[in-house]
Amino acid sequence: MPYAHITGWGMSVPEKILTNDDLSKIVETNDQWIRERTGIRERRIAKDGQTSASLGVEAALKALQVANLRPTDLDLIICSTSTPDYIFPATACLIQDQIGATKAGAFDLLAACSGFIYATNMAAQAIRSGSIKNALVVGTETLSRFVNWKDRNTCILFGDGAGAFVLQASEKAGGVYSAVMHSDGSGGDLLALSAGGQGHPFSEATAQENGRFIEMDGKEVFRFATRVMAQATLEALDAAGMTIETINWIVPHQANIRIIEAAARGLKQPMEKFIVNLDRYGNTSTASIPIAVVEAVEKGQLKSGDKFVMVGFGAGLTWGALAAEWTGPLPSKGQFYPSQYRALGRVRSLVRRIIRFIEGIIFRREL
Ligand code: UT7
Repeated sequence: MPYAHITGWGMSVPEKILTNDDLSKIVETNDQWIRERTGIRERRIAKDGQTSASLGVEAALKALQVANLRPTDLDLIICSTSTPDYIFPATACLIQDQIGATKAGAFDLLAACSGFIYATNMAAQAIRSGSIKNALVVGTETLSRFVNWKDRNTCILFGDGAGAFVLQASEKAGGVYSAVMHSDGSGGDLLALSAGGQGHPFSEATAQENGRFIEMDGKEVFRFATRVMAQATLEALDAAGMTIETINWIVPHQANIRIIEAAARGLKQPMEKFIVNLDRYGNTSTASIPIAVVEAVEKGQLKSGDKFVMVGFGAGLTWGALAAEWTGPLPSKGQFYPSQYRALGRVRSLVRRIIRFIEGIIFRREL
């Protein structure tokens, strides 16, 4: 049975920074309160035209470059997002088109902030079953578009960004060892963005209501998070036949430093073992774990051969954890240049649209 190795990684965040002081000019809050209660100092905000798909494309191309893999070698793209560009087509298909991954199946997965763990697990399972060889997993969000900038309970927390992994099959032992995924829909109302679906369709009325914004019972989500983080970590380790002592790093969902500290206490592990970067990005939902991983690799913290756990929780309610060994790029031939593929992807997409248009005229005549 092949192993599923993480061989490429990339991230993309908007340039625009929104600090706590900036927020204090919009709502009644202050830098000290936000830092002490959440650990967040600033977050990134997408500019006009920057979307979950465009941030996802940037992260994906960087991950492919690290793996030195052409987009045309991808068999599968899973995009985890709660803020897709459209209800459909899937954001994964927009990314597939823009990077020119012509042989890949593509779909979106929605498990909120736990989504990247779910998606990485799904891709790893497809590789381990032998049905595919190369997969791209993207976690991308533009939550700032759904934040109520009058609600100080939520607007201080969220930011925008994307992260991506390339997963590849190899007979060499390593990569993703185990994962656990959980849900409890009875807590769905604790963290929700309700307008837009069939349960609460968009209308002139919804445009005036809070339903079009993220709504959250912060205290209850906090209580749920502190309960499940340590528990899910231990479950994933148990499934992999590993113990917490043998783990080099824990990469938690970057929601609130106090939740991470509670997980550290629950696991009886020092905070130094936890990768934390929420001070600079806030909570980027499904993108928070891959962004933290990418920065940990770039800083030289997470190294080849290190064992680590990714653990998250979020709306749904969902939670999960994944235990893995960090691999790094597999040996490969040739050199992949993302900018070249980006341009090629655009040309290919345009050519396909033109061909479809011409075929449409011809076939309409024949009917
Ligand atoms: O991906 C999952 C996403 N969600 C989460 O992870 C959320 C989990 N929950 C949390 O992180 C925390 O519950 C929050 C950060 C949202 C809130 O922190 P808290 O320590 O639970 O604060 P609180 O809601 O109990 O509020 C304490 C006080 C209240 O004032 P009073 O009633 O004691 O006078 C709030 O009105 O702080 C006030 N407050 C604020 N003050 C300044 C609430 N938000 C703010 C604010 N600035 N932004």
